Amino acid sequence: MTIKKLDVTIGNVNEVYDGPGGILWEMLMGDQIHVGGAVETDILAAKSGIDPDSHVLDVCSALGGPARHLARMYGCRVTGLDATVRMHEEAVRRTKEVGLEKRIEYRLGNALDMPFPENTFDVVWGQDAWCYITDKKRLIEECARVLKPGGVLAFTDWLETGPMTGDEWLALNTFMVFPYMETLGGYAALAENAGLEVIEKEDLTPDFADNIQMYLDKVQNEFRQAIVENYGQDMYAEVERGIALWRDASAAGKVGRGRILARK
Ligand SMILES: C[S@@+](CC[C@H](N)C(=O)[O-])C[C@H]1O[C@@H](n2cnc3c(N)ncnc32)[C@H](O)[C@@H]1O
Repeated sequence: MTIKKLDVTIGNVNEVYDGPGGILWEMLMGDQIHVGGAVETDILAAKSGIDPDSHVLDVCSALGGPARHLARMYGCRVTGLDATVRMHEEAVRRTKEVGLEKRIEYRLGNALDMPFPENTFDVVWGQDAWCYITDKKRLIEECARVLKPGGVLAFTDWLETGPMTGDEWLALNTFMVFPYMETLGGYAALAENAGLEVIEKEDLTPDFADNIQMYLDKVQNEFRQAIVENYGQDMYAEVERGIALWRDASAAGKVGRGRILARK
């Protein structure tokens, strides 16, 4: 089956996270750049059984907020992999600043070609980032390859959850610079096909719309002036329009979020 994709490259994603996009998402979400912040990280950690003996690979680790949280709260080792230089450098700097560099290392690299041998990690982890990845099949195969036998793949992601017109699909993905989004069932099938056993899959769409509304409120109230002053009125209008589009699509059940756990 041919998957409909926007022509997004890793270079386009790097432009987002090297530039104002990365700053904007940190403003709205904090240094854990995903829906639900530390609470969601703790839920995923509990479900994946992370303990002091675990070695976790965070695929698309961005600023390293989740890596530091995991190392601090659970005493585990974390390796963070991200393809954007600013994210990588900030993650290294912030981790050193809080003295966690002995338990966390970061690698600059592409999730589609992971610089790790097979059977390396107890947990392969991702939070709200794989929507940027151009080939989800290959991504999940890479995750399965680097997981140890018995290890757990644990991730959340933004998903396509309902029918939409071609124009809606284009506008939603273009604003976010996503090549395409998976469905929850699509991800489960990719995990099974990569030889993993899906142990849990949860549709988190119901509270997704509330979160997107919260980000829109922050843009319109708390950060409006800062965005206009730093990036201009046109950029502000574009951000407000794009997040409102996502708010409407999520309220209509067309886009959402899910959590998957699978064992090798
Ligand atoms: C939403 S942020 C990730 C947030 C992070 N998981 C967290 O919870 O803080 C998306 C990140 O994915 C990274 N990324 C996107 N595509 C990638 C790829 N193919 N390989 C590695 N990193 C990628 C971007 O550089 C960016 O830092």
